[in-house]
Amino acid sequence: MSKLPNITTSIFTVMSKMAAEYNAINLSQGFPNFPVDQKLTDIVAQLTKEDVHQYTPMAGFPPLLNKIAKLVKHSYQRTIQPETEILVTAGATQGIFSSIQALVGSGDEVIILDPSYDSYEPNVLLSGGIPIRIPLNDDYTPNWDLIEKGCNDNTKIIVITNPHNPTGKILSLNDIERLESILVKFPNIILLSDEVYEYITFEQKHISIHTRSALRNRAIITASFGKSFHVTGWKIGYVVAPEYLMYEIKKVHQFLVFSVNSISQAAISEYLDSVSVEEISPFYQEKEIISKNYSPTVVSN
Ligand SMILES: Cc1ncc(COP(=O)(O)O)c(C=O)c1O
Repeated sequence: MSKLPNITTSIFTVMSKMAAEYNAINLSQGFPNFPVDQKLTDIVAQLTKEDVHQYTPMAGFPPLLNKIAKLVKHSYQRTIQPETEILVTAGATQGIFSSIQALVGSGDEVIILDPSYDSYEPNVLLSGGIPIRIPLNDDYTPNWDLIEKGCNDNTKIIVITNPHNPTGKILSLNDIERLESILVKFPNIILLSDEVYEYITFEQKHISIHTRSALRNRAIITASFGKSFHVTGWKIGYVVAPEYLMYEIKKVHQFLVFSVNSISQAAISEYLDSVSVEEISPFYQEKEIISKNYSPTVVSN
């Protein structure tokens, strides 16, 4: 008996394998083709000789939790509590999984916009919930009328991806305000805002849910160091959520991974002292930089 009878191997696995077989450019999976910053690999080399090889505390390596709080403050002017509102996860995917498993029960509905990152739906199915898939408009904006119609007393979570995968679309202020107006009418719905591409934006910055006072106290926000620092294989990210939600999410996290691998946590923690996230977007825009060795500016304290 299968718990996921209609789910097959992820499209990312299928397409990445085919791209390797046919020597094709792999546009399916979000990982870059340029080298990791040498500063980061140097930090890892050094850390392997240090005392960072045992389990970290369940929620994360404490210095990293503090640095994440600083990063969120720096990027979005939001103050969050490192001890209670941040969870370091094995990639954003595990944060999304733990959040949905912790909060969605049998018969609960979860609104997912179509198309979207493919982990959301199986997650909901595994939790016994019902995915309600709502297609994006032709211009890839969310169809808020349909979303509002899709909300009811059984709706537990609305998932948004901003910036969006696979379209790259960023939600406008109008979109966010429309979302806020819907959620005012449904005070029990939790927002899951997947913001793994937060620093990979082009013409304009995205509006993070961190900046929305009407939403952030009922929102789970996911982030990915793998995406931001082009170390996708490290599978390291984090979740920010208010304590009442995080308390539940940690219950799943502790029995899924307990803690995320210590060296990558320590390495990212140290790297955050010297990297400037503002340089990530221009870096992507100026592709010629790729051929020169990427090294972001050191920020002095
Ligand atoms: C929208 C979205 N969320 C999450 C992830 C996964 O992030 P991570 O590698 O940190 O688990 C991806 C990866 O493609 C993604 O596109």
